[in-house]
Amino acid sequence: MQTTEQNQLRDLMTSRHSIRKYRTDHKISREELTRMIKEASSAPSSGNLQPWRVVVVDSEEGKAKLRPLVMFNTLQNDTSSAMILILADTQHYKQSDYIFNKAVDEGKMPADVRDRQLELINAHYPQLPASKLNEIVKIDSALFAMQFMLIAKSYGYDTSPMGGFEEERVVEAFDLDPEQYSPVMILALGKADEAGYESVRLTPEQITFWH
Ligand SMILES: Cc1cc2nc3c(=O)[nH]c(=O)nc-3n(C[C@H](O)[C@H](O)[C@H](O)COP(=O)(O)O)c2cc1C
Repeated sequence: MQTTEQNQLRDLMTSRHSIRKYRTDHKISREELTRMIKEASSAPSSGNLQPWRVVVVDSEEGKAKLRPLVMFNTLQNDTSSAMILILADTQHYKQSDYIFNKAVDEGKMPADVRDRQLELINAHYPQLPASKLNEIVKIDSALFAMQFMLIAKSYGYDTSPMGGFEEERVVEAFDLDPEQYSPVMILALGKADEAGYESVRLTPEQITFWH
């Protein structure tokens, strides 16, 4: 027996298709964008360190800067209400004191648990090899990106995830340090101006190992 919530979630998931052409007359307010970012931030992350960072490109100037860097994805850039650049902060562990102190202040975590967690985090993350740290923050940030696509759908918008862009140059174009911020993907966001298309998926039998 499915609850209404489960049905709504399934509808959102199964009706999401990558949309590459958007209605150019539709603006999304920064207030609404901020709400979507806040809601997508409920994603889980390693150590709850939330490494995702977001560059919202919703101005003419920003879009013009991005255009030469998005390879074969110019239609999304030209027509979307916003291009959402998802970055992973490889220095995310520097926010750990803030996050864990807030959890204690809000009564969500006992102080002794915070102290133990912070000790572990401070011993673990800063000494990881750069490649491992990069992998961790990118996995976490991809979960945020997926949540963003679903929440956007619930607001009546569509998205298109994109990996086709000049990674390092995009980070620099928005005055951020590519040593610190690792690009994860860009999401085009807006009101669809095309239906999108059904795409095939491998079956559970093809992707599942049972033991
Ligand atoms: C990480 C990632 C990168 C992608 N890069 C691009 C891209 O650069 N350009 C594009 O048109 N679609 C891109 N896609 C969209 C995929 O082609 C699409 O998700 C897939 O074909 C399944 O279709 P659907 O999203 O409509 O279900 C990307 C998707 C993901 C998850």
